[in-house]
Amino acid sequence: MIYMSVTIGTPLQSSAYKVLLLGSGELGKEVVISLQRLGVEVHAADRYDHAPAMQVAHFSHTLNMADPEALKALISQVKPHLIVPEIEAIATQVLVEIEEQKIATVIPSAKAVNLTMNREGIRRLAAEELGLPTSAYRFANTLEAFRAACDDIGYPNFVKPVMSSSGKGQSRVKSFDEVDAAWEYAQTDGRVNQGTVIVESQIDFDFEITLLTVRAKNAETGEIETSFCDPIGHRQDSGDYVESWQPQLMTALALEEAKRIANKVTIALGGCGIFGVELFVKGDKVWFSEVSPRPHDTGLVTLASQFQSEFELHARAILGLPVNTARHSTAASAVIYAGVDDTNLSFTGLNLALANPDTDLRLFGKPEGFKRRRMGVATARAETTDHARELAQHAAQQVSVQQN
Ligand SMILES: Nc1ncnc2c1ncn2[C@@H]1O[C@H](COP(=O)(O)OP(=O)(O)O)[C@@H](O)[C@H]1O
Ligand SMILES: [Mg+2]
Repeated sequence: MIYMSVTIGTPLQSSAYKVLLLGSGELGKEVVISLQRLGVEVHAADRYDHAPAMQVAHFSHTLNMADPEALKALISQVKPHLIVPEIEAIATQVLVEIEEQKIATVIPSAKAVNLTMNREGIRRLAAEELGLPTSAYRFANTLEAFRAACDDIGYPNFVKPVMSSSGKGQSRVKSFDEVDAAWEYAQTDGRVNQGTVIVESQIDFDFEITLLTVRAKNAETGEIETSFCDPIGHRQDSGDYVESWQPQLMTALALEEAKRIANKVTIALGGCGIFGVELFVKGDKVWFSEVSPRPHDTGLVTLASQFQSEFELHARAILGLPVNTARHSTAASAVIYAGVDDTNLSFTGLNLALANPDTDLRLFGKPEGFKRRRMGVATARAETTDHARELAQHAAQQVSVQQN
């Protein structure tokens, strides 16, 4: 028995099936390419012109997505079937209303987007409602409360603005002497100056992984089913990913526990799509860290390792199509930074980067670079993750950035 038929119209015609992407970075760019291949009409929005995903979409829209009125106006202009948030700094309350009024489907769900934009929402859900293992934590919104929270949690600890990502405003506090500086840093560097920080005890892990978890409909029954990609290992530098590899070997017990945690948290968030579940692993023990209700930067490695990359998996899942999370290769990815603050950059040495036939490159086309802005990524396939990591890093190092 076929439950229903998934139908996609013709882009730019009245039958078009429309997706509005909120946030147009490099991860969104790959999602757009996957949607384009299936004949979806794509609208890409961001706060600046010529963002990566805009360059491959049918239409682009430049606005402040944290402004509720501007966001509402865009949605009523585009009339999308699906709204796909790619970043966290969005007026999420608008998405809750849109979902309630059944104006469009929010991916994966307004609840997921709303809870994960704030570390407090997702941490309380995971630890207090779902009972998942996490680091010890406290929240504080004044310097006094913050000092007390640090003493309570102990040292070293991790301090993060509740509204921040990619390591912004984060510090590792080694002793009471560093507490006031960490507070200052969190206040000035958080994405939205909301004041509240989380203090987390340091987890002494062997390695950390992203477990890409997909919630997609079964082709025959329409039931949402959960599937997992092989674990992705990664290395972070100051809270920002610098390289990743797949698979990360772990014990059978740890893998089972990782899947149990990912299953529980993604069911609670709901909807269809891919989730990047970040976990810390030590032996058989696993801790939940955080989750992105969308493709994850460390998952760029799946461009080289899987039949369907995390971006294709997301595109299929959100359209109601079945997915295949199988991996065909062992692979790694390494990030390419701008290294300078400038616009109109050139990338040279590309022939050398691609000299090895098992390497590949993505250059995101960002109009402006900053020293620590990710401008591209190199991927490589090999027999082992160690070798793949070497090849990917070597390829990334061959690329040099030139100012014009
Ligand atoms: N409690 C912790 N114990 C140990 N390492 C941590 C802890 N919290 C964060 N980290 C390290 O910092 C990185 C970034 O933290 P994360 O919470 O994922 O922030 P972001 O949202 O910026 O990715 C993690 O991937 C991990 O390497
Ligand atoms: Mg993270």
